[in-house]
Amino acid sequence: MVIIAREASFDEAEIFELYDSVGWDIWTRDIAKVCRSLAKSHLVITARDESGHLLGLARTVSDDETICYVQEVLVDKRSQGQGVGRRLMEHLMERYAHCRYFILTTDHESTPDGAANHAFYRRVGLIEHHEQGLSGFGRRVDNS
Ligand SMILES: CC(C)(COP(=O)(O)OP(=O)(O)OC[C@H]1O[C@@H](n2cnc3c(N)ncnc32)[C@H](O)[C@@H]1OP(=O)(O)O)[C@@H](O)C(=O)NCCC(=O)NCCS
Repeated sequence: MVIIAREASFDEAEIFELYDSVGWDIWTRDIAKVCRSLAKSHLVITARDESGHLLGLARTVSDDETICYVQEVLVDKRSQGQGVGRRLMEHLMERYAHCRYFILTTDHESTPDGAANHAFYRRVGLIEHHEQGLSGFGRRVDNS
């Protein structure tokens, strides 16, 4: 059984284990910052099993009127491919159904991570900006 719930306080060791399982080392270098980011988000939802083990989470930045930006969705490596990511995304899409913009940024499809993520986001019903005459712009990301 997977339990989806809103959470507002975060245990650094638990969050580290989750982010580390997907290899997000830019994030795990400063897990206190990740926990502050989670705490300052508009909404963080978690997926846990019946024993309370953290399987995944997703978080949003939003005005709850016009725009919802999905900043992260991740599922522990050992729990991927079992519908947990879909449950998290469907919860968010329903929660923010009233927002005109429901958007996110992910790696380009030409990268290994991007190819997997694009397949996932398409399966849950999202489309790329250019498919509806939109573009995304941003300051260059520092990946050092
Ligand atoms: C992307 C991620 C969140 C998907 O979560 P998940 O729990 O493994 O995905 P689900 O099992 O819920 O899959 C949902 C659907 O997407 C499809 N899907 C998921 N990953 C896929 C992949 N790599 N290739 C093809 N299809 C994929 C599934 O087949 C499933 O389709 P269905 O429901 O129609 O049968 C997870 O793989 C992850 O945490 N990756 C690392 C972190 C990351 O890159 N996050 C996204 C960028 S912010």
